[in-house]
Order: sequence, then structure tokens, then C-alpha cells
Amino acid sequence: MSHTNIRPYKGMVPITGANNYIDNSAVLVGDITLAEDVSIWPLVAARGDVNTITIGMRTNVQDGSVLHVTRKSSHNPAGNPLIIGDDVTIGHKCMLHGCTLGNRILVGMGAIIMDGVVVEDDVFIGAGSLVPPNKRLESGFLYVGNPIKQVRPLKESESAFLKQSAINYVELKNDYLGEVN
Ligand SMILES: CC(C)(COP(=O)(O)OP(=O)(O)OC[C@H]1O[C@@H](n2cnc3c(N)ncnc32)[C@H](O)[C@@H]1OP(=O)(O)O)[C@@H](O)C(=O)NCCC(=O)NCCS
Repeated sequence: MSHTNIRPYKGMVPITGANNYIDNSAVLVGDITLAEDVSIWPLVAARGDVNTITIGMRTNVQDGSVLHVTRKSSHNPAGNPLIIGDDVTIGHKCMLHGCTLGNRILVGMGAIIMDGVVVEDDVFIGAGSLVPPNKRLESGFLYVGNPIKQVRPLKESESAFLKQSAINYVELKNDYLGEVN
């Protein structure tokens, strides 16, 4: 597998974990750390240049998603790193910028999550949602819309699917690893 799409920035090189799948068309730059069983799908752009990106175990980042961060400054001394927990599904063409996501979250296709947002564990974000800066999304709820609104508590089937989606993607990326090796 060619790793020319995994690039250093100012001496910081993305750190991959065991059994990662990173599509050759995805680009990862700089201070990025991927845990075990992470999958990064075609055309993802992840730029850990002016701050750090951390992605937890079994999390998948689907096609065309963009991950970036905000630099440290006098009015924002820590800047905004991007932190994504375990068993998170990031759907196709999402934009995650300088936010913090817990565990077992589904980010629907085309969602935009802005700086300083905190998404607690076990949250479902509907397709096309926009999460404005510094919002906190509470554990156990479905959220949709632009700007995003809390809709209702998750059904049992939806809560179960959050974990199942991550499992599905681990299995799928293992198939892909079998193809490319
Ligand atoms: C939100 C979602 C979970 C559906 O939830 P639901 O409670 O079953 O919603 P329903 O389909 O019954 O629709 C209820 C209402 O919400 C609206 N709605 C559904 N999805 C919506 C969305 N993403 N954003 C805004 N409104 C949405 C429907 O139009 C409907 O509106 P109405 O009552 O005015 O007719 C689903 O539409 C969704 O966005 N899933 C994300 C899928 C995805 O992106 N997966 C990742 C890719 S792998």
C-alpha cells in the first residue's frame, strides 16, 4: 500500500494504528493519530497542520469528508483540535472542524460541525445538519436541521445501530484490506 498520501507537516507525521484502512485517494497531513481499526474512505482530506486530529478505535470517516482544526491564538490559547472518539460513523461528505465527538455517534451525510462543538456519547445527527460553534449535543438524542435542533430521544434500535454501524465498517474495511494486500 502506497503511503505517499500520508504526509508530514513541520516534522509531524500522521500516526496510524493497527489494522487501519486508509484509501489511497485520502490525504492525511501532519499531527494526526489514528487508533486501531480506523477506516478512512476515498477522498477524505484530513489536515492536522495548525492543531491536532485524534480519531478513536473502530471509527470510520466516509467518502469525501473534510477534517480540519483551528490554530492557537491570543483569544483562543488552545485553538480547536479535532477529537473523535471510539465507534463513531462519519457519513459521506461531512465537514468536521475543531470539534469534540464522544463515542458511538453517527454523523449523517453532509453534516457540518463547527469549532468548539461537543457531541456527547450516543448521539445521532441527521443528514445535512449544521451544528453552530460551541453547541453541546446531549447524550441519547436525535438531532437534525440547520441550525441543528434536538428532535427526540433515540429509539432502542437507533442506539443499538450506533455501535452496529461501527462494527459494519470494521468488517467492510477488513474486506478492503484483503483486496489491497
Ligand atoms: C433523521 C433520520 C434518522 C430520520 O429520522 P426519523 O425520525 O425516522 O424521521 P422521519 O423519516 O420519520 O421524518 C420525520 C420528519 O423529519 C424530516 N427529516 C428526516 N430526516 C431529516 C434530516 N436529515 N434533516 C431534516 N429533516 C429531516 C422528514 O422530512 C420528516 O419531516 P415532516 O414530519 O415535516 O414530514 C434520517 O432521515 C437521517 O438523516 N439519517 C442519517 C443517515 C445517514 O446519513 N447515514 C450515514 C451514511 S452511511
